[in-house]
Amino acid sequence: MRVLLLGGTSEASQMAKALSQAAVNSVFSYAGRTNAPVPQPLPTRVGGFGGVAGLAAYLRREAITHVIDATHPFAAGMSRNAYAACTQTATPLIRLERPAWQAQSGDDWTFVPTLEDTVAALPDEPARVFLAIGKQHIGLFATKPQHHYLLRLVDVPVGDLPLPYTAVVIARGPFDVAQDLALLQDHEITHIVAKNAGGRGAEAKLTAARQLGLPVILADRPALPGQNIAADIGAVMAWLGHDQVALRGV
Ligand SMILES: NC(=O)c1ccc[n+]([C@@H]2O[C@H](COP(=O)([O-])OP(=O)(O)OC[C@H]3O[C@@H](n4cnc5c(N)ncnc54)[C@H](OP(=O)(O)O)[C@@H]3O)[C@@H](O)[C@H]2O)c1
Repeated sequence: MRVLLLGGTSEASQMAKALSQAAVNSVFSYAGRTNAPVPQPLPTRVGGFGGVAGLAAYLRREAITHVIDATHPFAAGMSRNAYAACTQTATPLIRLERPAWQAQSGDDWTFVPTLEDTVAALPDEPARVFLAIGKQHIGLFATKPQHHYLLRLVDVPVGDLPLPYTAVVIARGPFDVAQDLALLQDHEITHIVAKNAGGRGAEAKLTAARQLGLPVILADRPALPGQNIAADIGAVMAWLGHDQVALRGV
């Protein structure tokens, strides 16, 4: 058995820990988006594979027997490529997928189908928006330049931002509620825009928004191919035939 773990999320890091503890021969893969990715307890490679063909070639060359897709729910390109390359090479694939966030009492959430739709859901009058979507798609909001945007990024941005009024906070999750309450209050935030990523690492902003009565605009996840989905690390380990392993601290 040789496992390829597609990472870039805190769940992937937990998965890596479980594989390492169970001594499963595995390689961890990062896209290479951040300057200093979190070190993993597994041999790690960094960078794209070169599309479906590149990934299929990698799977063959490295004699990969199982692929675990633990990428972010919005990393749809990688998930689609993994599905296509695994189908082509008949490599078993499982997606570790955290449940989407559900609104609860006290929430003022607007769900929109895509990230692009979040822009139109913002008001026209100037607002103070926490744009909790990473750096990749902030250009979408250039059509609403009247707002003040708070960005929380992993790395200091290089070059000019496409938005005229911004504040940038450099931080890496997981985040806690006290920290996010302070952030929203210090920046006098009136609206939050986020991806419905699910999971615990980025959930604190939603709890903080609930406590402050702030509206949240949430983009739904993209649809992904494949039916073999695990909700937690134990289910992935069972799929690998390692269900007897005690997952210490995972
Ligand atoms: N999208 C988000 O909101 C988000 C949030 C937190 C973390 N992340 C993590 O950041 C990474 C990039 O996200 P994205 O939205 O830019 O992905 P994406 O659009 O789905 O992927 C674009 C390309 O990046 C490469 N890539 C992505 N993940 C990779 C991985 N784990 N290992 C090797 N190559 C990878 C692949 O290049 P090739 O085609 O050349 O193979 C892929 O086709 C993902 O690994 C994801 O887990 C994403």
